[in-house]
Amino acid sequence: MTEDRKSRTTQHDHDEKRDEPVTSWGKRDEMIVHEQDPFNAEAPPGVLVEAFVTPVSTFYSRNHGPIPELDPDAWSLRVDGAVSRPLTLTLAQLRAFEAVTVTATLQCAGNRRADLIKVSDIPGEDPWGRGATSTAEWTGARLSDVLAAAGLDPAARAGHVAFDAPDVSQLADPPQPYGGSVPLGKAQSPEVLLAWAMNSEPLTQAHGAPVRVVVPGYIGARSVKWVRRVTVQSEPSDNYFQATAYRIVPPDADPKQAGPGNGISLGPVVVNAAILAPSDGSRRPAGRTEVSGYAYAGGDRTVARVDVSTDGGSTWVQADLGRRTDRWAWTMWSISVDLASGPHTLVVRAWDDAGAQQPESATSLWNPKGYANTSWDRVEIVVDAA
Ligand code: MTE
Repeated sequence: MTEDRKSRTTQHDHDEKRDEPVTSWGKRDEMIVHEQDPFNAEAPPGVLVEAFVTPVSTFYSRNHGPIPELDPDAWSLRVDGAVSRPLTLTLAQLRAFEAVTVTATLQCAGNRRADLIKVSDIPGEDPWGRGATSTAEWTGARLSDVLAAAGLDPAARAGHVAFDAPDVSQLADPPQPYGGSVPLGKAQSPEVLLAWAMNSEPLTQAHGAPVRVVVPGYIGARSVKWVRRVTVQSEPSDNYFQATAYRIVPPDADPKQAGPGNGISLGPVVVNAAILAPSDGSRRPAGRTEVSGYAYAGGDRTVARVDVSTDGGSTWVQADLGRRTDRWAWTMWSISVDLASGPHTLVVRAWDDAGAQQPESATSLWNPKGYANTSWDRVEIVVDAA
């Protein structure tokens, strides 16, 4: 049984077929559902590898509370704080801003946590595999245009833009609606959107309808869904999911005791890569094997190189990089390798354009909440004799 199958907790336990009807929240039946409530699901690697732009039906879904159903006609967005003209925008008024489409990858900070759990258990957190990341074409208004319309107050020493949502998470301490923030400089970058469409369709309920924030390059947690308020302020958001969660605390710290401000607050993603095919634990026929997956530089960097090893990391060859036209999206890579019969450990590591490379071991990255596993990704396969 592969690691991904093992982590499936509530999914129907029958053979996966591509044309099966979609399951909860418009997702394909073969999704790995870690939890139904709150709904948390990812695509198996063999499905994620199928497309550069992930279909909505296989895009991962990460929620901290019940998914709200908002009436688009009743929805409005409040823009306030250190602005000279606070605004309340209806959906029609938001859509009157120039619409732009950005192809961007979202990556959850918990992506690949399963490999950190193998190092040491992480109670209470889902064992996400390689699929807590996906790519979509997001359409919406630039947040910077909306902030400009509200008039940033230059005297206010504003440093951050906070986002509030209506979904109440019982996982927060105390329970509270979801929220987060990004630095003002990032909020004013043209790629940051108040998005109403995903892959040319209106946002689905699970992905934040009618409007969500999309912050390309940052951990997915900052792309607040069902956004209802944008506040320009001097400090980061004091919401639980900004002030306390999504922080890396040292291995010996108790995350429950870690108060607001402890540890490293996660913002920009750092370079990461995963092998999506062949799948972990699979057997391959003799002959050439196609190895493929994704690499994602995060932040405002790009993927510069992807190395693949077929001998556990002793020797490396460079993979071919696929479509590279989209500044904020992952890079799909592939390479065809000739493998002798027997067991092989396939390994991938990516480099970004700043020359940074992924760390070798998950052990060195282990942290109590299991965030940001960017270690070399490994897949064990067995090649049959010819
Ligand atoms: N926004 C709200 N309102 N509530 C949430 O639980 N989860 C965040 C972010 N925005 C969340 C949210 C996290 S941790 C991630 S990784 C992304 O949404 C996931 O977006 P998706 O479910 O559309 O894939």
